[in-house]
Amino acid sequence: MSGTVVAIDGPAASGKSSTARKVAEELGFQHLDSGALYRGVTLVALELARVRGAGGGDPLAAVDPETILRSAEDRGLMLQPDGHGFSAYYAGEPVDDAIRSDQVTARVSAVSAVPVIREWINGRLRAMVRAGMDVVVDGRDIGTVVFPEAELKVFLTAAPQTRAARRLAQQGSSADRVAVAEEAERLAARDQADSTRSIAPLARAADAVELDTTELDFQEQVACIVALARSRGY
Ligand code: DC
Repeated sequence: MSGTVVAIDGPAASGKSSTARKVAEELGFQHLDSGALYRGVTLVALELARVRGAGGGDPLAAVDPETILRSAEDRGLMLQPDGHGFSAYYAGEPVDDAIRSDQVTARVSAVSAVPVIREWINGRLRAMVRAGMDVVVDGRDIGTVVFPEAELKVFLTAAPQTRAARRLAQQGSSADRVAVAEEAERLAARDQADSTRSIAPLARAADAVELDTTELDFQEQVACIVALARSRGY
């Protein structure tokens, strides 16, 4: 048996994760945040690099990907169901805050460009769907690579300034003009890295519905995707 997949892709801070979680709740599906797994693997890499006395720099220069993945397996890096979403755990500890630290955010694009790391994460995501779970999965390559057979694919976008202002508001940081411009620059750098890597770059699937949320509020974008899902009989 295989579950139903709603795939939501888009650039950094386009609201994928919060939207996917709410859509999952409305449909009675589970939300799977693939970015949380990439962030979790990055956290593992940084911890191993620190233990080896190479903290702060590029963790991939200090630890090879196989060692990182073995540690992720052995020490139980996982997403555990929590309501309609998941919480990230590593070594039995919740790591939802740690995986969203600035240090992890700065390194996650490089870690997620490593093919074996992508294969490991894709295997985890596919296993959950094969087990029969109905899911809303958000990421960068969900509709193009991980679940190309998904019947509903959405590509979320928003103007860079809007994404930057939303990200700062989510973090509770001040959103003056300078802060928004700086955050927009960081997001643009991450989008550039995620879109131009040779493996599974951020891309809109040919059959994805593009939804520009610049002028939409949260409820409207959720309602829009739920309506698309309902029209497919979910
Ligand atoms: O959605 P996010 O910001 O939490 O994702 C963190 C990083 O993980 C992002 O910069 C790129 C990577 N990622 C990816 O390469 N493929 C995915 N399906 C999801 C995330």
